[in-house]
Amino acid sequence: MSFVPRDPSSRAVAGRPSYLILHNTSEVVTPDPEGRRVLRYPRGAIVFQDGRVLEVGSGAELSRRHAEARPLNANGRLVTPGLVDCHTHMIFAGQRAAEFQQRLGGESYAAIAAAGGGIRATVAATAAERDDVLEKSLANRLERWRANGCTTVEVKSGYGLTPPAELRLLELMRGAAQRVPARLHRTALLLHAVPAEYRERRGELIALLCERTLPEIRTRELAGAVDAFCDEAAFSIAECRTLLVRAQQLGFAVKLHADQLTRNGGARLAAELRACSADHLESATEADWKALAAAGTVGVLLPAAALTLGQRLPAAAMLRKSGARVAVATDFNPGTAPAQSLVECAALAARLCGFDADETLLAITWNAAKALGVESEVGHLNPGAWGDAVTWECETLEELPYWMPAVRPDTVFVRGADLALPTVERRVWP
Ligand code: NIG
Ligand code: FE
Repeated sequence: MSFVPRDPSSRAVAGRPSYLILHNTSEVVTPDPEGRRVLRYPRGAIVFQDGRVLEVGSGAELSRRHAEARPLNANGRLVTPGLVDCHTHMIFAGQRAAEFQQRLGGESYAAIAAAGGGIRATVAATAAERDDVLEKSLANRLERWRANGCTTVEVKSGYGLTPPAELRLLELMRGAAQRVPARLHRTALLLHAVPAEYRERRGELIALLCERTLPEIRTRELAGAVDAFCDEAAFSIAECRTLLVRAQQLGFAVKLHADQLTRNGGARLAAELRACSADHLESATEADWKALAAAGTVGVLLPAAALTLGQRLPAAAMLRKSGARVAVATDFNPGTAPAQSLVECAALAARLCGFDADETLLAITWNAAKALGVESEVGHLNPGAWGDAVTWECETLEELPYWMPAVRPDTVFVRGADLALPTVERRVWP
């Protein structure tokens, strides 16, 4: 069992009545407690108490039995669990729009990286940025994600590269978590690109990470999970295995950027380690997906990255056959996925893979929560789960992946509280 750092964002929301009933919905939809199927409650209601779901069911019945609860009117709209974005690289400075233009002109991601652009360009911009600016920009991004319906967000470090620079980013992530109501899951992405000073000493870098950095992150509770970019252009299977095995010994959950640009065995390694998730998988085969299914490792699809790099996503029919659990995430980063809305990414995945509305919902709720090891707490609205929910500007679950640009939340509940939302775009008619 991996440990969960006491994130400041798990505190109660102060000054809010703790007994509420959200009623007059078109339907409440939620994964069942095992995340196997989607339960639908037409004209349903949810009762929140002390930040958690007390009951979900028929609106008429719950309104009768909870007459004392503060009523909140959903105005005949769809209610889902708060969404879970289980893969982002949100802490960075700058942008790489010029590089995007180069790629549209035919240059490859690997060639741009080899010429000093790519991840290293963002590493330099991040190193040059002030701490308080990085922390606030991360907090602002988390607020934008909440306004887009995400109440749980994973954030990876990874644009530091050297151990001290990675520790700096992890500390700033803790600071940002204190500013916002959304739940932040911090992941130490310790193998992303080889830092220049370790180019001829890769073994030394791995040893330092294993012997010093990982124990320090553990002692200071700076992250709950550890990740690595396993690719020809990044780190080998052997290097990733050494880091992740050590991370597991220390009690971290592990994840892997696997089989993205090339198929080099990343999914197999994730399965061997029974990792929480294997992410990307554009180059993975059906056999790889079966291995993930057997290991209970969630396969995370990142449609924005696949689209930006011109790669294909796997077909829903093959994924169903494999039996694997599938999540969809933004992969938000300045290089391959400047994607700021998880629902937009889910709408893309639905089209590119062929997911139905239930599969799409599972991919951004229960399965994404499982990729973070928190599926008992978030990603669904069964009794006992945290009261994280969204009222959407639509009436049916089928509309969630349908509209483009995606439907927007009306109200976002975090721990049973309907906090004001930041404005992410100006609306002409309020
Ligand atoms: O998940 N694959 C590696 N890392 C990021 C891209 C990082 C970048 O280009 O800045 C990803 O796609
Ligand atoms: Fe990524």
